[in-house]
Amino acid sequence: MSKCRICQVEYVPFLSFGKMPLANGFLASDQFRNEYFFELVVAFCPSCCMVQLSEQPSRERMFTPHYAYFSSTSTSMATHFEKFSHQVIADYLPPHDPFVVEIGCNDGILLEQFAQVGIRHLGIEPSANVAQVAVNKGLRALQRYFDEDLAREIVAEYGQADAVLGANVLCHIPYLHSVVAGIKMLLKPGGVLVFEDPYLGDILDKTAYDQIYDEHAFYFSVTSVRYLFQRHGLEVVDVMPQNVHGGSMRYVVTHEGARKGSAAVMAHCEREKALGLEQPETFEGFRRRTERSREELMALLFKLKRLGKRVVGYGATSKSTTVINYCGITRDLVEFISDTTPIKQGKFSPGAHIPVRPYTEFTANYPDHALLFAWNHAREIIPKERGFQAAGGKWIVYVPKVQILI
Ligand code: SAH
Ligand code: TYD
Repeated sequence: MSKCRICQVEYVPFLSFGKMPLANGFLASDQFRNEYFFELVVAFCPSCCMVQLSEQPSRERMFTPHYAYFSSTSTSMATHFEKFSHQVIADYLPPHDPFVVEIGCNDGILLEQFAQVGIRHLGIEPSANVAQVAVNKGLRALQRYFDEDLAREIVAEYGQADAVLGANVLCHIPYLHSVVAGIKMLLKPGGVLVFEDPYLGDILDKTAYDQIYDEHAFYFSVTSVRYLFQRHGLEVVDVMPQNVHGGSMRYVVTHEGARKGSAAVMAHCEREKALGLEQPETFEGFRRRTERSREELMALLFKLKRLGKRVVGYGATSKSTTVINYCGITRDLVEFISDTTPIKQGKFSPGAHIPVRPYTEFTANYPDHALLFAWNHAREIIPKERGFQAAGGKWIVYVPKVQILI
């Protein structure tokens, strides 16, 4: 595939990470021999400006009944989603019997906010284990992939929705035209789609190359998202930057002409033009900064090794799979990765096979340095780890630049 998934124009690959495993493919040692790898290459479309992967593993490989990402592992994300629900209820839902559909509801972190105030809701979540957590919370959730066919079934059974929501999910779905056609069918004439995903502007600005991994098929800008929805007779009427996942953008989309658009949409498009998000050279610069970041991180880890320091990873994130395998970080350099997610503990990291251990092992014997793979949660993590710093521990971060925090 060398054509843009959105507009079919030939795209320009700008960064190849080589063979990569599944970002959430945490595995047991008896699975090492059969581990799956694919070519991780990211490309820019010079026509519609969509940044995208050239190859993506099948959805059945990524979204399995043992899916390792549980949304509710971060308290700051729970607060974020609570505020998200308040905004949707206040600004977009009609007072009488509204109906909300969430695409990719995972363990119900957002949907439960609507259920708690008695709002009619439906979650769509293909990964069986996390969908089950949502169901166990009393939420209505279907263990299915959202697309045009499912949208038709939902309309037939439940009727159209006042709001369709999605957080960190649309960018995961390569068959985006089918998803958008489904959303259009599902939305009432006055309904809104509210979704958010990591923002390309922040990825470039922070050299957050670790956002690039198998599940992220697309890296959205306001420009590329506007084009996509326009093709389906839908309109981006508002955009709101979000301070989560290292910098995200929330988009509000309606049927064309259904609501007055905010000036923020065009303002962001203008800003993106000024930042060069429409030019291939911008992405060449990103590639060079990524390569430099890799060199600096490896130089630091080798130096700490020579000095006999213990380094432990903090947060077995999906993003860490890209960093570890692209940079060539091994168990010699990072002893283990601490993570609070039970399904990841006792397993090994994808590709490099660094052990993932329970958080209690981090606190029981603090290392000299903690490599903050969950850097996007720094505001939550660093204050709560005062004990680590009091014991002389130091944080290493690599976004926006490689440094030891002091
Ligand atoms: N919304 C949550 C989860 C994001 S992870 C949050 O922001 O924390 C992405 C989720 O999308 C996963 O749970 C995955 O199983 C789900 N997903 C992937 N493809 C999907 C599709 N076609 N339809 C609905 N959900 C999908
Ligand atoms: P996250 O950065 O949200 O996502 P991604 O997988 O998309 O890169 O993942 C956070 C990971 O870090 C998750 O596995 C839980 C773990 N974690 C901790 O171990 N401790 C913490 O205090 C927090 C906030 C997260």
